[in-house]
Amino acid sequence: MEQSFIPQKIEIFKESGQVTWQTPSNIALVKYWGKREPQLPENTSISFTLSNCCTTTTLQYKKRENKQDGFDFDVIFEGKKNEAFKPKIETFFKRIEVYVPFLKDYYFTIESSNSFPHSSGIASSASGMSAIAMCLMSLEKELTPDLTEEFFYQKASFLARLGSGSACRSVKGEMVVWGEHPEIKGSSDLYGVEFLDEVAPVFKNYQDTILLVDKGEKQVSSTVGHGLMHGHPFATQRFAQAQENISSIKNIFTTGEIDAFITLVESEALTLHAMMMTSQPYFILMKPNTLEVINKVWKYRKDTDSKLCFTLDAGANVHLLYPEAEKETVQQFISKELAVFCKNGEFIHDQVGMGAKMLVDKP
Ligand code: DP6
Repeated sequence: MEQSFIPQKIEIFKESGQVTWQTPSNIALVKYWGKREPQLPENTSISFTLSNCCTTTTLQYKKRENKQDGFDFDVIFEGKKNEAFKPKIETFFKRIEVYVPFLKDYYFTIESSNSFPHSSGIASSASGMSAIAMCLMSLEKELTPDLTEEFFYQKASFLARLGSGSACRSVKGEMVVWGEHPEIKGSSDLYGVEFLDEVAPVFKNYQDTILLVDKGEKQVSSTVGHGLMHGHPFATQRFAQAQENISSIKNIFTTGEIDAFITLVESEALTLHAMMMTSQPYFILMKPNTLEVINKVWKYRKDTDSKLCFTLDAGANVHLLYPEAEKETVQQFISKELAVFCKNGEFIHDQVGMGAKMLVDKP
């Protein structure tokens, strides 16, 4: 199957050019936590694609004379030359080289910026890696114009996955499934697929407000975190549970059972953290304010008939999920009662989006 992503014959006739893509972050509802080589998930995950939290990347390419000397690229991040990101991109290039055989034929400048504040603790690897993958696919399309749209997006997601697992869910569609699952048609461990079942109106335009509880460096990198699932005493049960939760959430999306959605999503978040608390070595990635927020959300739900719920990534920040119909009231509640638990009172309102967008460069 991977073989189909290796181009047969490619003529490097393009001398130079540039392309720009804007790609979103995503928030997992059923979490990916645990992977095996080469960047394959131990369980199926599903996410909402976000809209405002995104990365914009321009890839400039110029043909080189000598491709013997390894990869040749520079990174400019938020307007400044950035050496720190280069090793990660070098590793990414090595992993994808067999599928992108023209990588050494060009010198690249990768110019990137995020819509969210730097070191906000928001995972930028998903939007960052998918943006580079989209740009490379645009170049591949220049070189082999007869690529189908389906192949273009599938391979973009496949390449993004090799950069960062969750990045494969930041390419196309409002809800994206990654990882083979018997009940999701077309699902694969190799790339994300759009969740195309009928979805109840309440789950359309879902809102996500990200509370920036802790903006520091990640305590545990995701690669280390995933590694902790190897030999984890509860790994087998966890992976089986995730597969069952995919079946349940698929059903919930069609029937619109929002209370079941809340239970499943919050349980997934807490399970992710429970996995980290019960690994060796163990970690607590929540902060006191994370718990303050969770308790406030539970109280708010009890006192009102709100459907507000939370999810977490592998860190202290809280994603608050709620239907669009509650936008006004929930956002008031956030400003009044939850902002105090955020660093500098900062939060970001976002909502479900469609996926990557190609931007037309200004002449
Ligand atoms: C907790 O995709 O960041 O956000 O594949 O090592 O780059 P790598 O990991 P990454 O892991 C994300 C884990 C998560 C849950 C999720 O997004 O599904």
